[in-house]
Amino acid sequence: MSRQPPESLSRDLPHECLPARIALLERRIAREIRARQAAEDLLEAKSLELYNANQSLRETNTNLEQRVIERTQQLTAARDEALAASRAKSGFLANMSHELRTPLNAIIGFSETMRLEVMGPMANDLYRSYAGNIHDSGRHLLGVINDLLDVAKIEAGRMELHEEVCDVGAIIAEATRLLENQALQAGLAVATQLQSRLPHIQGDRGKLRQILLNLLSNAIKFTHREGMITVSARLSASGTFVLAVADTGIGIPARQIDAVMEPFVQVENVFSRSHNGSGLGLPLCKALAEMHGGFMVLESEIGKGTCVTISLPRRRVMERDEANSAS
Ligand SMILES: Nc1ncnc2c1ncn2[C@@H]1O[C@H](COP(=O)(O)OP(=O)(O)OP(=O)(O)O)[C@@H](O)[C@H]1O
Ligand SMILES: [Mg+2]
Repeated sequence: MSRQPPESLSRDLPHECLPARIALLERRIAREIRARQAAEDLLEAKSLELYNANQSLRETNTNLEQRVIERTQQLTAARDEALAASRAKSGFLANMSHELRTPLNAIIGFSETMRLEVMGPMANDLYRSYAGNIHDSGRHLLGVINDLLDVAKIEAGRMELHEEVCDVGAIIAEATRLLENQALQAGLAVATQLQSRLPHIQGDRGKLRQILLNLLSNAIKFTHREGMITVSARLSASGTFVLAVADTGIGIPARQIDAVMEPFVQVENVFSRSHNGSGLGLPLCKALAEMHGGFMVLESEIGKGTCVTISLPRRRVMERDEANSAS
């Protein structure tokens, strides 16, 4: 805003108005100075407030960073501890399994010799049947120990695949033959459905057989008399190899489907109480499928049945010509 110079004031205004005009100007200036002072005070107060807020934000930030660092250190230490404990457990299991298997093999071998009366007849029939019981129990215990050893090996990353060209149809036939008697005694029918011209796959024959035996033995254990078990193998539309064992058994409650794939988890029911088992079959099948680069899916409905599907990746599927020249 432009101001009139004093000369013009004195020139344009009458002489007697000048002091009043000056007094007015002085009051206005004083008012402006006070307003300016008040604005400056307010600005200073706000700056101080801002400074304090900034300071406390910085402190909170530093505390937060410190807490994140501490928490990360605690979590890393806990993870290392858990890993070390898991490794120690797996090592312990692997050693113990070895220690247990050696005498167990002697028990199985000698009881078999006695049962078959290889060294001469036994005078008392009861002794022969005891020898048979010792032999059967020994074999069962060996199965449990072998499963434990396998779980320990897989957890310790020490399980290896021995890969070869596998005829899955033949593996299914072998597994169903091995459990034929068990299925017959349980009053169950076992059917096999193989896609025509089923290709061979590249995999570990023994471990694929182990998967099938575990799934079949579950299906036999958990299906009522006159039930049906179906083992099938086919290629999916996307070219993956699909192996499935389905039964018309008791089924698994939906909330327990994930849990039973973890070691030592069993569904509490009359069946699991009246059957042998330690809850290692399904986790082993899952781990063995994953070692092949595949996966396992369990579908089940209470009272209707269960279907466990093992999918193996396309890269394991062999063209028939390829399989012929490799085998
Ligand atoms: N086909 C099935 N039908 C119904 N329940 C099943 C079936 N398969 C598994 N289960 C349930 O899942 C549990 C875990 O199965 P898993 O094969 O791991 O152990 P298990 O058969 O009890 O013992 P193991 O296999 O070590 O001899 C079983 O105890 C049972 O409760
Ligand atoms: Mg089982």
